[in-house]
Amino acid sequence: MARRIAIIQGHPDPDGGHFCNALAEAYRDGAEAAGHAVDIVETSRLDLPYLRNMAEWEAPPEDEGVLGMQRIVGAADHLVIIYPLWLGDMPAVLKSALEHLSRGGFVLSVDEGGHWRAGLRGKSARVVVTMGMPSLVYRLFFLSHSLKSLERNILKFAGVKPVRTTLMGQVEGEARATRREGWLAQMRRLGRDAA
Ligand SMILES: Cc1cc2nc3c(=O)[nH]c(=O)nc-3n(C[C@H](O)[C@H](O)[C@H](O)COP(=O)(O)O)c2cc1C
Repeated sequence: MARRIAIIQGHPDPDGGHFCNALAEAYRDGAEAAGHAVDIVETSRLDLPYLRNMAEWEAPPEDEGVLGMQRIVGAADHLVIIYPLWLGDMPAVLKSALEHLSRGGFVLSVDEGGHWRAGLRGKSARVVVTMGMPSLVYRLFFLSHSLKSLERNILKFAGVKPVRTTLMGQVEGEARATRREGWLAQMRRLGRDAA
């Protein structure tokens, strides 16, 4: 069945040309070839101030880029979030974009009875993280803590289910060219299956 997919590309460099950009494009190519509809949000192109307080978080956004991101995410059945691991976590630009995405109760809100309303219910997700270290070190020594935070504190809490993850370690350097080809092929397959 054809699905609508939102790819949130979280590499902060607006000049592009990074492995994360190639991964997003490979996923899109595989998905579109299989008949799925795909939108890519380039978080590096959003020019956003940091949120500073609860009032800003609760207020609906006015920025066209944020409103566009909310429309794309709101319409999607499946979310794909791709980012490079920076200082053990997602880059600040992506985190800021997710804070803005959640404005105005879009991702989570509390109703008059004090109950949480999960704003992304009915969607599934795939999170793809590239990193310099071996992925096994991130999994076993660092216990994937920042990825678990995104998975549990944000996505699952907002109703996204299931959340699947793909870790790509030791991605740097020309010596990785062959492995990169394998990862790009994997992304095209995931895109084809909207998984
Ligand atoms: C500011 C910065 C911080 C980084 N921090 C980490 C880190 O904590 N752990 C790690 O394994 N790799 C780290 N890296 C390496 C990146 O994860 C790696 O370069 C990236 O995944 C490659 O993706 P790209 O080719 O799309 O830029 C860091 C790179 C930069 C530039």
